[in-house]
Amino acid sequence: MNRIVFIYIRAFFVMLICAAMLFCLCGCTVNDNNPNNVNNDIVEVPKPTSYPTPTFVPTVEPSPTPEQTAAATPEVTGAIMPGETDNPLSEEKLVALTFDDGPYGEVTNRILDVVEQYAEYGVHVTFFALGSQAEKFPNTVKRAADLGCEVANHTYSHKNLTKISEDERTSQVEDTADIIESITGTRSKLVRPPYGAKNDDVRATVKYPLILWSIDTLDWKTRDTDSTVAEALKAVDGDIVLMHDVRDDTAAAAEQIIPALVEQGYKLVTVSEMFEAKGIALENGKAYRKAR
Ligand code: NI
Repeated sequence: MNRIVFIYIRAFFVMLICAAMLFCLCGCTVNDNNPNNVNNDIVEVPKPTSYPTPTFVPTVEPSPTPEQTAAATPEVTGAIMPGETDNPLSEEKLVALTFDDGPYGEVTNRILDVVEQYAEYGVHVTFFALGSQAEKFPNTVKRAADLGCEVANHTYSHKNLTKISEDERTSQVEDTADIIESITGTRSKLVRPPYGAKNDDVRATVKYPLILWSIDTLDWKTRDTDSTVAEALKAVDGDIVLMHDVRDDTAAAAEQIIPALVEQGYKLVTVSEMFEAKGIALENGKAYRKAR
């Protein structure tokens, strides 16, 4: 009798355990990810996750500066009329200050100090460098280029291009272009022939625009800062002013000329910047004295 009761009791507990296991299994399934007991094979309800949903934060691109916009504008290959360009400088009064026969150590750096001091006004000048001097002062050439100035080509050793052979003429120009490019990473686009000397042979063999000047300060002759300043300040829109970065009196003049022209509302730009802003496409072998 006791044995039969024991068997029943054991069977009862076995059933109880089975029922508990079954209940647990079902409960787990129901609680897992299908609380509505919808067909689990078809509808997949994603588990809530503790990871935060990534929030899309748009990257704000800075608006392009006028310089960047200008740089992105495709180069104009044909001559266009002034006023047809989107260049922000096209409505400004422009003057190109140019310095020849350097670079020359301290003198050129004094001029660059003023350029740097007036950087917020976008002041850039042009150096028509001799290849032989650029080799001696590569850091100065690099500094000029880094400040946005134009380093252009005044031949290797200042020979009169009308009085030398075609081969020598080519090497005077191209060797200098190579030297400037090796220092700045940019090949100079303009040539100023020494003494402004040019003839048909020069025009035919020098494959660059020939840049002369409209205002000659005669700084090399007077060696007088006040005179150089007075001549340079005669500049009006489109003028190219000739000076030489070989003497301290010219550096002293630049220290007065740049602030004075900025004060008068002129934008001091490189030769290339000025012709581009005026919508004048420069042609190889052709001579230019001013941009107007
Ligand atoms: Ni010269």
